[in-house]
Amino acid sequence: MRPLFEVLTPGSEEWSLAESIDPARLPAHIAIIMDGNGRWARSRNLPRVAGHRAGAEAVRQTVETCARLGIRALTLYAFSAENWKRPASEVNTLWNLLHLYLRQEMPTLQEGNIRLRPIGRMEALPAAVQEELRAAERATSSNTGLQVYLALNYGGRLELVDAFNSILEHARRTRSLHKLQIDEAMIASHLYTAGVPDPDLLIRTSGEMRISNFLLWQIAYAEIYVTNVLWPDFTRKDLLVAILDYQQRDRRFGGLGADVTQPAADLSHAGLGF
Ligand code: IPE
Ligand code: IPE
Ligand code: MG
Repeated sequence: MRPLFEVLTPGSEEWSLAESIDPARLPAHIAIIMDGNGRWARSRNLPRVAGHRAGAEAVRQTVETCARLGIRALTLYAFSAENWKRPASEVNTLWNLLHLYLRQEMPTLQEGNIRLRPIGRMEALPAAVQEELRAAERATSSNTGLQVYLALNYGGRLELVDAFNSILEHARRTRSLHKLQIDEAMIASHLYTAGVPDPDLLIRTSGEMRISNFLLWQIAYAEIYVTNVLWPDFTRKDLLVAILDYQQRDRRFGGLGADVTQPAADLSHAGLGF
């Protein structure tokens, strides 16, 4: 897949945004809560499923742009474990759309050296969708470019429950239950995202200021970017704007900011009794 600058028009707004991005400080992992399909449709007097259909186009463009930029990992929240509460007709349309998307996008994924992996409780998905996902995962398993994680029937709490049960099962199997000590590294290595660096940037579209049970463990220090843009309207330009915003953040991880050049004041002589 050609690098981003080769497909942008010189002098365009996207071009100047892309030029402002520091390629040395790209987020290694971007996670997106793709929200607002229903409201996009309602504002056009269309059925909700029309919003999902339009959303698939935004997925296509986002995956492609991340690959062209050289982003390492992209996790897309496509269907939450709570989304089963929706009418069966909407849920079924979502699975049909996913099935279609997987079929249509295989050549692009291969050409772009993109690897696709589903995360979530796959066993509850329709058999045909599971089969298509397995096929896509197999076919792209040796691709070394962008790694796309598609969160389907995903819940952050469920992922933690699955991780703890997997730790228990491993300890039982290796007869080490009596000396089991759980630590952070062990939990991380039993998550669906084992081995994937935590997201640096978490984007949510449609203006909702909540996490909705997404990657609860992994987003401990993610930079959060919420935009009012509804997911079907989310373009390449919006992604570039989000990355630029991210690059302006001062990530402190509990320490001191990059602009703190002085060592912390010595309070022992300040009369504070230290
Ligand atoms: C996100 O859009 C897609 C899924 C959750 C599957 P919504 O369908 O949640 O759209 P809104 O939030 O109702 O606008
Ligand atoms: C989050 O969106 C799930 C996905 C984007 C797949 P929802 O629309 O389900 O979230 P809530 O219900 O507004 O929190
Ligand atoms: Mg929503």
